[in-house]
Amino acid sequence: MAPDSGLGLIRKGFDMSMAVDYGQRIPNNVSLHSDRRLQRALESWQPRFLDWWRELGPDGFQESDVYLRTAVSIEPGGWANFAHVKMPEYRWGIFLTGPEKDRQIGFGEEKGLPVWNQVPGQHRADLRRLIVTQGDTEPASVEQQRLLGRMAPSLYDLRNLFQVNVEEGRHLWAMVYLLHAYFGRDGRDEADLILERHAGDPDRPRILGAFNELTPDWLAFYMFTYFTDRDGKYQLASLAESAFDPLARTCQFMLTEEAHHMFVGESGVKRIVQRSAELMREQDSNEIRAFGGIDLATIQRYINFHYSVSLDLFGGERSSNAAAYYSAGLKGRYNEAKINDDHVLTKTLQPVPEWRDGKPSTTEVPEINALNERLRQDFVRDCERGVARWNNVLEGHDISARLYLPHIAFNRRIGTFAGGYVTPEGSSIDERDWTEQSRNWLPTDEDKAFVASIMDPVTERGKIANWIAPPARGIDSRSFDYEYVRLV
Ligand SMILES: [Fe+2]
Ligand SMILES: [Fe+2]
Repeated sequence: MAPDSGLGLIRKGFDMSMAVDYGQRIPNNVSLHSDRRLQRALESWQPRFLDWWRELGPDGFQESDVYLRTAVSIEPGGWANFAHVKMPEYRWGIFLTGPEKDRQIGFGEEKGLPVWNQVPGQHRADLRRLIVTQGDTEPASVEQQRLLGRMAPSLYDLRNLFQVNVEEGRHLWAMVYLLHAYFGRDGRDEADLILERHAGDPDRPRILGAFNELTPDWLAFYMFTYFTDRDGKYQLASLAESAFDPLARTCQFMLTEEAHHMFVGESGVKRIVQRSAELMREQDSNEIRAFGGIDLATIQRYINFHYSVSLDLFGGERSSNAAAYYSAGLKGRYNEAKINDDHVLTKTLQPVPEWRDGKPSTTEVPEINALNERLRQDFVRDCERGVARWNNVLEGHDISARLYLPHIAFNRRIGTFAGGYVTPEGSSIDERDWTEQSRNWLPTDEDKAFVASIMDPVTERGKIANWIAPPARGIDSRSFDYEYVRLV
């Protein structure tokens, strides 16, 4: 049991049928005890998950008490309980948002029919693939981030890292539950394989490229949680529209957890920009490395890298797979219900980017073939908001330089722009110019070595590394100098 008795509390007026049961080995709100076979299968997967966590989860700190939030209900705004917990004792569980009465399929060929509570045979392979691909990213990011605890800038940041890590572990549970409960034998096999693939493993890598690179430092960590976790938000949001109701409800709850991950990223970068701006003012110079700060040019190169890699995660601009998923009702658009159109999309056209005559251009395709691109554009608009907030910090310090998102064709490996050479401003250049100039646009070995050189851990309460400003407020109304992690 977790050390805090508050985990058992259920709020008045709460729908008891969806209450989280912490009396079970696997906390859940899906009445797991009523399905013995499924319960036993998941209970035999649990020790393998814990072995994975100890082996490839955070390096060190497994005996430290970390001030973590745990889900106690699925009600919006009332679901979190905070307590000091040793990470291996975190109550990873299975939580679905409550069912919506008489929910109907919102898009595609079966629009208006009741949603499915079982997997239709003809969609089994596609649904399994969507769930496995999502599930594979969750433990991957924990593996990528496993060395960061040893160089955390403060106990507050250390706690945030671990919160993100345990919740990615829970997201794995969310997907593994679906595989076990709805996909029989091959679902169980897939759940095992997710623990056998590892980020960066040459023989058994993670499925998606961006999840195979180590997150080497905290600037990269904040960029990852800002850009790459945000890709996750858009993927989850489109799966939250699914006609397969258990998947939709699982993803709806995951989104509430994901919001904190993106907060960690956005506020983390903002606090670095703030500290850099302070040092630039103090020293009256853009060159602040000698004073232990991260210069804006380096921050911009990290943005360029993480943003472009995250754009790739949305897939090709024209996609017949995405079209098939949409017409089958498996994966919708972001905020599908709020969009005012026919939700079938076969009669309308949509402009998409295209590499033509050696430069970025656009073309029109049937809207249903442009769904990856549409989701990517929703993502881009969302990314711009954070960059604007970072720039407000610069403006507040009377610094005229600005951070920006590079052109969508910059540094792409997937889709129409793969193989082209494009500057962050969007002009196409030849390979020779790219080789000469890309060191100005993407993090260099020197940048990475410099950032690594200032990543000295700060573990004293209320203290913070020199390269980042303290947060405006703490977690759960605690102050910044609260003992967020009790080190042993
Ligand atoms: Fe996640
Ligand atoms: Fe996340």
